[in-house]
Amino acid sequence: MDRFVIRGGKKLSGILNVSGAKNASLALMPAAILASGKSVLHNTPKLNDVFTMEKLLIQLGAECEFTDEVIKIDTSGINNFTAPYEHVKKMRASVYVLGPLLGRFGRAKVSMPGGCAWGPRPINLHLEGLKKMGAEIELEEGYIVAKASKLQGANIYFDISSVGATGNLLMAAVLARGTTVINNAAIEPEIGNLAEYLLKMGARIEGINTPVLTIEGVTELHPAEIETIPDRIEAGTLLTAAAITGGSIGLTNIKQMLVKAVLLKLEDSGCSIDEQNGILKISDTEKLLATNITTSVFPGFPTDMQAQWTALMSLSEGVSQVTDTIYTDRFKHIPELIRLGADISVSENVATIRGVKKLKGAKVMSTDLRASASLVLAGLAAEGITEVLRVYHLDRGYQKIEEKLRSLGAEIERVEGTEF
Ligand code: EPU
Repeated sequence: MDRFVIRGGKKLSGILNVSGAKNASLALMPAAILASGKSVLHNTPKLNDVFTMEKLLIQLGAECEFTDEVIKIDTSGINNFTAPYEHVKKMRASVYVLGPLLGRFGRAKVSMPGGCAWGPRPINLHLEGLKKMGAEIELEEGYIVAKASKLQGANIYFDISSVGATGNLLMAAVLARGTTVINNAAIEPEIGNLAEYLLKMGARIEGINTPVLTIEGVTELHPAEIETIPDRIEAGTLLTAAAITGGSIGLTNIKQMLVKAVLLKLEDSGCSIDEQNGILKISDTEKLLATNITTSVFPGFPTDMQAQWTALMSLSEGVSQVTDTIYTDRFKHIPELIRLGADISVSENVATIRGVKKLKGAKVMSTDLRASASLVLAGLAAEGITEVLRVYHLDRGYQKIEEKLRSLGAEIERVEGTEF
């Protein structure tokens, strides 16, 4: 397993392009299933979760061609309707094939996702919504087996705003008979991107980017081209990396509205943010101030930036609180940050961080994608050498993060090896 070796203390500087959004691609790619023929997805990031989704689509019978950042998906040969355990255990987003397979072919068999590194992460809302649309769903030997000769429009209300359930039901509804209304739908920009793509395919959707989506089912969709939106979490991670090193960087291919909550919190913590000629800039910060955050659904502070923020706050002046309301257990990074010298305690879903003057390099273990990102950030600021083990978690969700950070002046190397 590869690891990163980081010599901390370098202030980041330079300009970097933000890649396409992982979580948009993971919804756009399975949406291609809905129309027979070749769809083209631009600005697709080259990272392992996208490769896993590509393999899954190929397993279903699709043909994929992925060059530069464009993936072409030809779904005319789909003849298999099973997402096997091997894929789903690697990546929960594999469950996104359920809605489109059911919508176009009337059947799907998808391995039931298990827990994840920080908690149970159920998919009850996906399944209850599909049942309401007339699907028969059984659990057989760890697989969700879903059938529906023709899905029917339904009035659906989510108790919790869920990105995945909104995406899955939206994809199921576009080919259903009649009208589906999704109430309390997620308004994350990745869902907006998915809805725009479905519109281009011929779907009829109203209320895009609002919590009430109204979908008028159509009988057939056609392949389409779409531009994947920029990755707001990659952007937020890079801005926070600059802040934690006291550096100044500029990002291209990112819109402020995608990262507004993070930008405002960075300003509260003493950073200067500016945008000129399409470059979003963060300027060197003399002193980081303790700043509380509470994660919530978009446009709130994203849970996918919580761990990185915790790393930043560990070097701030004062005491801050980080509250995660989306995943109340998502704190696996904290014992590792403490190994680097951070002073953090956790009670229920609140981390209390007493800022320290410095962190000191050590070996630390990645446990999940964003936890790993927080360890890399801490390593960039720590004195001496930090080794972040098991960076395969990072490779799932960031496109060549070490190369990007190196281009900004960080001293970070990937060491291929077998250390666990
Ligand atoms: N939930 C349920 N039942 C469901 C679905 C969700 O109780 O059927 C709960 C979850 O347990 C959670 C909340 O609802 O407490 C929100 O979960 P959501 O369904 O929105 O999450 P998701 O679709 O599984 C996506 C991202 C995650 C991101 C969350 C929250 C993708 C592929 N994944 O997951 O991204 O944390 O939304 O914004 O889009 C990451 O990129 O590191 C990552 C984990």
